[in-house]
Amino acid sequence: MQTAIRVVPRIVSCCSSLSKVPRPAQGRIDFFEQEQKLEKLEKEEKTVMANVKFMSGENVPLEMHKVRMVQRVNLLPVEDRLESMKEAGFNTFLLKNRDVFLDMLTDSGVNAMSENQYAAMMQADDSYAGSETFYRLEKVLQDMFGMKYFLPAHQGRACENIISQVLVKPGSVALMNYHFTTTKAHITLKGGTIEEIIGDEGIKINSDALFKGDIDIDKLNEAIARIGGENISFVRVEAGTNLVGGQPVSMKNIREVSQICRNAGIRTVYDASLLADNLYFIKVRDAAYKRTDIKDIIREIASFFDIVYFSARKLGSARGGGILTSSDELFYKMRELVPLFEGFLTYGGMSVREMEALTVGLQETLDIDVISQTPIFVEALCGELIKKGVPVVTPPGGLGCHVDARQFCSHVPQTQYPAGALNAALFIASGVRAMERGTLSEQRNDDGSERLAEMELIRLAVPKRVFTLSQIKYTADRLAWLYKNRELIGGLEFTEEPKVLRFFFGRLKPADDWAENLAAQFRKDFGDSL
Ligand code: F0G
Repeated sequence: MQTAIRVVPRIVSCCSSLSKVPRPAQGRIDFFEQEQKLEKLEKEEKTVMANVKFMSGENVPLEMHKVRMVQRVNLLPVEDRLESMKEAGFNTFLLKNRDVFLDMLTDSGVNAMSENQYAAMMQADDSYAGSETFYRLEKVLQDMFGMKYFLPAHQGRACENIISQVLVKPGSVALMNYHFTTTKAHITLKGGTIEEIIGDEGIKINSDALFKGDIDIDKLNEAIARIGGENISFVRVEAGTNLVGGQPVSMKNIREVSQICRNAGIRTVYDASLLADNLYFIKVRDAAYKRTDIKDIIREIASFFDIVYFSARKLGSARGGGILTSSDELFYKMRELVPLFEGFLTYGGMSVREMEALTVGLQETLDIDVISQTPIFVEALCGELIKKGVPVVTPPGGLGCHVDARQFCSHVPQTQYPAGALNAALFIASGVRAMERGTLSEQRNDDGSERLAEMELIRLAVPKRVFTLSQIKYTADRLAWLYKNRELIGGLEFTEEPKVLRFFFGRLKPADDWAENLAAQFRKDFGDSL
């Protein structure tokens, strides 16, 4: 049946322009808002349920935006890519961006911003204290999360520093579905330790579980009984669990975890950095939320936590971060630290322009067309790779496509960093920069021995609305070539190994001359192609 196209009201770009939107007379406001909400839900259901069908039956991730500003990228010849990799110490963090063709290192701070975000940056209120920009941001966040207080910080790890300073005592344990590198570093810096209590499905490369980020409730109960509530600094739930492949956490799990923690008097912390992807998966994978407004989902999630924090380099597609709480006690304790580490309370290390972009970006997170873009592109990339036999984490999550380096490079021992090696090899073969998420990203044990990672992954991040489908196909093609030639990839060893967060600026070298052999094979197979 043909349905009439209805004009869906767009999300208002910034609070100051709210006053300019014609509003109905007072008595009709409820009806007007109700209508708006229903139209939005109908539209979301269509996007989520049907997407856009192609006659061929092919599942194409169709862009719900058009590109109006572009940046030129360079694809160097394979010999130059090899040279760049050597100069970067076989660490993709140390590559110069001018040598990178497709930057899939991360989605952090590199999502495409909307025209409304850029427009909002132009009307920022520059002021050290009491900036109108801050109050706009605070209001949007309080409304979205239904929480009382907001503290700004310059990025996600700055929030982790403040939270750890307040909640972590030496010898305490923080329980979490899975650690994130910076989270763990801040907790251990304060003398605490972490324990991961993710469900067993979460660390399987291939699983049918739809919410692989869920905490295992038995493990949670067992850990509380063993460690004692008073020795647990907090229980942390990470949305879109980064290091296991951007895997979502279900509402049911959050509800159960929160109940157990509240009964045991244990604080709960939610890392909402990857909330956007997680919201999309709650909408599409949990039938109970198919017709729930995205804002209502966010508020329900937030109601289960004492503290919510986020990296605005991810959530809201801008740069910055912040902490929300409704607890007076926690707010006053954390507030003291903001001017000390971040900046005055009305900017917390963020520029006013970024805060304006964030305010709009957060509101755009309520739009299913915006939050679906990364997950459907990740699904497309994973799909291409699966077709070519390349081992990837399934079901596809948010954030990026995760390739299983342990299977890919089964001949490289874990102590020689198979994920790091595959990551370097991918750059040489394609100019695509991905990120190692395996043993290289771990911290050594206290006795100096290697802590072997549970998963050896490389992450091909798909920042929001940045890459086209042909670029996704190129990436899959080069990875498939690499898979065919995987025996050529060898191990890596450190030449320079920093003690903390070694993956950021550590330098390595190949165990033998495998990198040269790989480049030579590429030239042989691809002729004069870049
Ligand atoms: N929590 C999660 C889940 C993250 O993914 C990140 C950052 C942080 C906290 C820290 O936030 O970078 O603003 O200080 N993840 C980036 C990434 C670095 O590439 O995945 P930040």
